[in-house]
Amino acid sequence: MSRPTSSTLTIRPARGLGGEIRVPGDKSLSHRAVLFAALADGRTLIDGFLPGEDCVCTMRALQAMGCAIETDSETRLIIQGVGGKLRPPLEPLDCGNSGTAMRLLAGILAGQPFPSRLIGDPSLSARPMKRIVDPLRLMGAKIEGQGEKHTAPLEIQGGPLTGIEYTLPVASAQLKSCLLLAGLFANGTTSITEKTPTRDHTERLLAHFHAPPTIDLTPEGKTIRVRGGTQLHAHDFNVPGDFSSAAFWIVAAAAMPGADLTVTNLGLNGSRTGLLSVLTRMGAHLTETVADSSCEPFGNVRVYGRKLRATKMSGAEIPNIIDELPIIAVAAAIAQGDTEIRDARELRVKETDRIAAMAANLRAFGVPVTEYDDGMTIHGGFPLIGARVGSFGDHRIAMACAVLGLFSKGETTITETGCIATSYPTFQEDLAKIVSFQEGGLASFLGGGR
Ligand code: S3P
Repeated sequence: MSRPTSSTLTIRPARGLGGEIRVPGDKSLSHRAVLFAALADGRTLIDGFLPGEDCVCTMRALQAMGCAIETDSETRLIIQGVGGKLRPPLEPLDCGNSGTAMRLLAGILAGQPFPSRLIGDPSLSARPMKRIVDPLRLMGAKIEGQGEKHTAPLEIQGGPLTGIEYTLPVASAQLKSCLLLAGLFANGTTSITEKTPTRDHTERLLAHFHAPPTIDLTPEGKTIRVRGGTQLHAHDFNVPGDFSSAAFWIVAAAAMPGADLTVTNLGLNGSRTGLLSVLTRMGAHLTETVADSSCEPFGNVRVYGRKLRATKMSGAEIPNIIDELPIIAVAAAIAQGDTEIRDARELRVKETDRIAAMAANLRAFGVPVTEYDDGMTIHGGFPLIGARVGSFGDHRIAMACAVLGLFSKGETTITETGCIATSYPTFQEDLAKIVSFQEGGLASFLGGGR
């Protein structure tokens, strides 16, 4: 998927921040809801779908394989499931920037009786796919990537699979989900063990689509089992707001004394909300109200601004906050003291190397950073000076640096902000809605029109 790379976002210091906001639908859930509804038999209505580029890639791939999807608005999809029987795609399936699209589709396609090819943009084409290729091959899949890391394009022959017992060597929900989806098309049972918990949306949504996996919790970790040939059945689904998108505003409000912000209809799955504990340790004042937790918990978060202090993050907490670490690094830059992030090597293989990107950008704002192979220490509390920084083509780097601009003296410019549309197409509107700026300054997008 091509997009303009020339967009630029200019931010001036904020005077205040507050009000009520509802962020767009959750990205991880939008991918899974459309995938599972497509595989199911029957008709599913998905409301609150995220119309970001990543999820649109998944939707288009399913349409290219014969799934009828009507959109009566950008966020409401009516999906006629194919009952597990996809059609061979006539062209390569373009996953754009989305690791979730590529890894979850690969799991499904490995077990289909036809060949397929998955392609992506330059960032996605540099990301490691060996983590899915190796276990899929153990299941009997014929799948080939490029070079030692088995990067995209991925060539999949498609054919019979056999269930395996597999312990995840990396804490990755995409890998877990890829193998559980392949397991639905395999002979026998597929049993996946994770030693460190990762987001559990696949497990919850399989249950929602009437195909609950078996789950065993032991001291060694969590084992999830699916049986080959299990049919999913249609079930309407409302996608709550994306906690990872709300994270930008939650941090901005938490770190701005006097701010009072409520985020409504927000996904509050405990495998995603570790940021709230991190901020609480940093001295933030937050309340979380869960309205419903029957499938995916959702509700409101209210945040009152305070001065923040440093904290430490490592170990099992990391997968829970993996997508929030760029904005946590911003909180750390504003806070007093040295904040340490360790055991976060996975950040190096996200949409960009997020350790290197945040270290470079924070330094441009005047923040000293000590970088490690698996994390960084951010030396917070120094004066923040507006800077001109790049996004590294990564949506979360762009949005995190925009928030830092609100706290920095003078003007901040972020270049190549077109990538924000992968997960948060209305970021700029929402920024303007909740932030009041000093000196009549407004945030502005120049170039590319996004
Ligand atoms: C995701 C899992 C995480 C996360 C990504 C979305 C998912 O990736 O960083 O943004 O939807 O399963 P990994 O599985 O690579 O950790």
